[in-house]
Amino acid sequence: MAIQWFPGHMNKARKDVTERLKDIDVVIEMLDARLPASSANPMLARMAKGKPRLMILNKQDLADAAATQQWLEWYRAKKNTQALGMDAGERAPAQKLVAACRELAPTRGGLEKPLRVLICGIPNVGKSTLINSMSSRKVAKTGNMPGVTKNEQRIILADDVELFDTPGMLWPKIEVEEGGYNLAASGAVGRNAMDEEEVTLELLKYLIQHYVPELSARYKLDDIAGLQDWQVLEMIGRKRGAVQSGGKINVQKAAELVLTDFRDGNIGRITLERPEEWLAWEKRAKEL
Ligand code: G4P
Repeated sequence: MAIQWFPGHMNKARKDVTERLKDIDVVIEMLDARLPASSANPMLARMAKGKPRLMILNKQDLADAAATQQWLEWYRAKKNTQALGMDAGERAPAQKLVAACRELAPTRGGLEKPLRVLICGIPNVGKSTLINSMSSRKVAKTGNMPGVTKNEQRIILADDVELFDTPGMLWPKIEVEEGGYNLAASGAVGRNAMDEEEVTLELLKYLIQHYVPELSARYKLDDIAGLQDWQVLEMIGRKRGAVQSGGKINVQKAAELVLTDFRDGNIGRITLERPEEWLAWEKRAKEL
């Protein structure tokens, strides 16, 4: 496994979320549209079992549109679940969220029974960006409100809709190896917690399978189909001047360059997993 995941104050976060879930009507999970399944929290799925769920596939501007469509259909086919594609350019995110939540919990709402929604998501998925864009001056400081923990934010989305934001709850072990690599490639994992070269080689392996035209265009490479990940990384290093004295490729520098390009969307709109691939990875992980 290329990354070490540091769940931090996991027990505290789990306790906070468990407590909050008791009076929550809809659970929103923000996913990274480039890696929806890898960025989904399996612990949250268990804890929120039975509650209506809204999956937001965020950063869809960076993801492959056809793959996002596949993922939206995959989530919408699940019981009690709705899914939306989104990105920071969304004009009226609050309206979109509120409409989806009302549909999921039609008996809640109105001033007597406000609709209470919890939002969760891994670091860097874009949760603060979304919340800031929705809240303007409406973020309620909740430090001294009964029943609301100090670290929680409560955002009033509509007169009868409250959104609770509980600080990050990560899960202890990444079971699917490819999921770990995808999380690392996306930038959800601290630099010191992964081997950038290994993560980049895994990323390139996937891009060689699915995104040869994009890769070739970005780095002006010819005939890369059929090449190995490390050969492509060397070609990129050479093209981009990541070369040490003596003409040897500076692989670390080349790897950083590719990762940054991927994260910034410079290689193109890319999704690192499809539902059927995820199922196969998950099956293999269970067999191990
Ligand atoms: P978080 O609270 O979930 O940890 O994430 P946050 O909102 O801080 O967003 C993390 C980074 O992702 C930010 O970039 C933000 O601008 C970017 N981001 C958020 N939503 C979107 C989106 O829909 N599309 C794209 N393309 N980017 C989005 P940053 O501040 O530049 O940080 P970094 O990229 O240097 O980490």
